[in-house]
This record gives sequence, structure tokens and C-alpha cells, in this order.
Amino acid sequence: MTLTLMIERKLKRIFKVLKGTYFTISAKGSPWEKSYWDKEFYLEGISDAKTISSKKSEYSARYHYASTEMQIYRYFVNHNAASPASILDYGSGAGHWIDFYRDLGAETAGGIEISEKCVEHLTHKYKETPKTTIWHGKIHEVLETQVTTTFDLINAIGVLFHIVDDNELIQVLKLTYEKLNSDGLFVIGGNFGLWPMNINTQVKFGRILNKRLRSRWWWTRELKKVGFRDITIYRNIGYAFIKDRTPENSILVCRK
Ligand SMILES: C[S@@+](CC[C@H](N)C(=O)[O-])C[C@H]1O[C@@H](n2cnc3c(N)ncnc32)[C@H](O)[C@@H]1O
Repeated sequence: MTLTLMIERKLKRIFKVLKGTYFTISAKGSPWEKSYWDKEFYLEGISDAKTISSKKSEYSARYHYASTEMQIYRYFVNHNAASPASILDYGSGAGHWIDFYRDLGAETAGGIEISEKCVEHLTHKYKETPKTTIWHGKIHEVLETQVTTTFDLINAIGVLFHIVDDNELIQVLKLTYEKLNSDGLFVIGGNFGLWPMNINTQVKFGRILNKRLRSRWWWTRELKKVGFRDITIYRNIGYAFIKDRTPENSILVCRK
């Protein structure tokens, strides 16, 4: 049973890569605009499950987040990493990762979100929580104009593949390096495939391009160019064992 499920999931991933290759070659869709997240994505409230999709079940979402958390714990244990005192989270959604690092001991936390609905949700959620700042806007714009401090750890899970312009993403990587304390960690969640792929994999409603996957070779090259070192990738194949579609969210961690 499990083997059949795994094979089915793997075949679906292969199909996704082939479809993405077609989307990329045919230049299908236009990059999402800021209003997309509030007007076309977050139509049924804000929660961990809704950051995956409006119809995702609570159990699928919990499974997905737990499988991702395991990879972060794995990194912390295997690298004897110190608990970060200050963290910044990109594309915070419902605030799952802010809560996660706060539970690990972070005293100062920041979140950057482009969705006004998420910003409203997060501002309300953390109104009584000391030393927590929520910024509204695109990651690179907020980093350039509003974030004046540096952090022990910057987290970007399930968000950087939504930056479909390679130059914008490279700008985010450079600014992230600047906003980290020395030896600080950058934790990225996404798909770091082996195939030589830099492809647009999701075109919503046949017109809105909102996901671009880059290979692990792309990530390693660009992170090193910016100055990051000690790049570790932990594959998360949790998605292959569940009868539902959840994002892959493997984990890449590197150090300033
Ligand atoms: C798939 S959700 C993931 C949410 C959260 N990181 C999590 O794992 O629970 C992606 C989130 O990133 C936000 N987002 C996408 N692109 C962004 C950008 N360039 N700047 C800021 N936020 C962005 C979206 O509004 C959305 O809430």
C-alpha cells in the first residue's frame, strides 16, 4: 500500500516537472501582483491549513508542518546549533514559524507578509507578545526600507518559490546576508531538486504565475556567491506517505 502510494506521488512529481517545463518554455502566465494573495488566494480566512490551500484539512496541514519541523530539529541536533535569540520570518502566513522559534526560545521576532489579511491576523495575534514586529510588503522592499536590525536566524519556509523573478530572489538573498548576525542561520523551505530545473510550476487559473522551482545547484551557486557557507539540505519526503497533496518543503540551512 505504502509502496503504491509512494510510486503514485513520485509519478505526480515527475508529471509536475514536465508540466513546469512546458509552462516555462511556453512562457505561460504573468507573475502574480500584490493583490493576488488577498483577492484570489486567502478567500476563506487565515490559518496554517489555509496557507497551503483553502480546502486543506487540519490533519493534512499538521502532518505537513510536523514533517518540516522534523528537518529543522534534525539540523539543530546534528549541528549542535544554539537556539536563536532573535528571528525574522519571511511570508509568515498564519504565524506558524514565528510560534515555532518562539517556543524554541527566541525573544525577538519579526515577520514580513505581503497579504494585508495575514498582516491583520498576525498583528492581532501578537498584539500582547513583546518584541514582535510585523511588516507589510514584499520581502526585498521591506528589508531595504524598514528593517534596521539584524537577527540570529532568518526563516523562509514555503515562500521563496513564490518569487518568480530570479533577480528579485537574488536581491532577497543579498539582503538576507546583510540582515543576519555573524554566524547567523538562514533556513529555507522548498524544493531543491536534483534535476537541472529552474521552472515555473504553477500557473493559477491558467493566467497567474505563482511558483518557480530552482534546482539545488542553482541554490548552492547563488547562496555561495552572496557569501553563505556550510550549506546543508535535508530532503523531506513526508509528502509521499500521505493521501493528500501537500507541498514538499525540504529544508536548506546555511550560515553567514
Ligand atoms: C504558502 S504561504 C506559507 C506561509 C508560511 N511561511 C508557512 O509556512 O506557514 C506563502 C506566504 O508568503 C506570502 N508571500 C509570498 N510572496 C511574498 C513576498 N514576496 N513577500 C512577502 N510575502 C510573500 C504570501 O502572502 C503567503 O502568506
